[in-house]
Amino acid sequence: MDRWVAWHEAYDVAGSALGRRLSLVARHIRQAVEALPPGEVRLVSLCAGQGHDVVRALAGHPRRGDVRGGLVELNPTNAGIARERIAGAGLDGLRVVEADAGDTGNYAEFVPADVVLVCGVFGNIGEEDIRRTVLALPELAAPGATVVWTRHRREPDVTGRIREWFAEGGFREVAFDAPPEHEIGVGVHQLVGPPRPRTTQRLFSFPG
Ligand SMILES: C[S@@+](CC[C@H](N)C(=O)[O-])C[C@H]1O[C@@H](n2cnc3c(N)ncnc32)[C@H](O)[C@@H]1O
Repeated sequence: MDRWVAWHEAYDVAGSALGRRLSLVARHIRQAVEALPPGEVRLVSLCAGQGHDVVRALAGHPRRGDVRGGLVELNPTNAGIARERIAGAGLDGLRVVEADAGDTGNYAEFVPADVVLVCGVFGNIGEEDIRRTVLALPELAAPGATVVWTRHRREPDVTGRIREWFAEGGFREVAFDAPPEHEIGVGVHQLVGPPRPRTTQRLFSFPG
């Protein structure tokens, strides 16, 4: 099985760090959606995998019909599973695109977004790429948008620097979860600075 398909199996392991991370991320997605005024909610997920987070957050949610946007995922198997999962959850306004999330050109139809998910990305790319991505998020975000992101806290723990880059990029910190029993970090940042027009650029590349 492909590495990135197999990666998702830990979601099903009772007591896993990934399972815990999922509950935290899903809670933050729900809170972000519920804080928005009635009407359309635009959402985009970078490297969306199998869509566990949006499905956990929004399946059965009264506002699931308001949610529009895209899940950008390169792996065809994961993209296919995500499609099935979002259809099963009644998230009919979401579309999965099989594309490179490191290329900002692939977000054209989904931005500016009110909710931006960057989960399972920062642990797989270098610090330069993380910083470039964080500083480019105002190009994908609507005014007041919420970004939910993750990064493990294993040494050398770079979550402190990531939080500083969000501040530099015009975001205020809403939450940072660092449960002591797992080396996971879940951040929530809200854009308080101005959004920026989208430029075409390469944000990051996953190694090999
Ligand atoms: C660690 S998983 C995270 C998946 C999901 N966001 C989650 O948290 O459950 C990383 C995902 O990124 C995908 N991926 C890797 N490089 C990518 C790229 N350049 N563009 C889009 N997806 C990519 C992998 O196939 C994998 O599904």
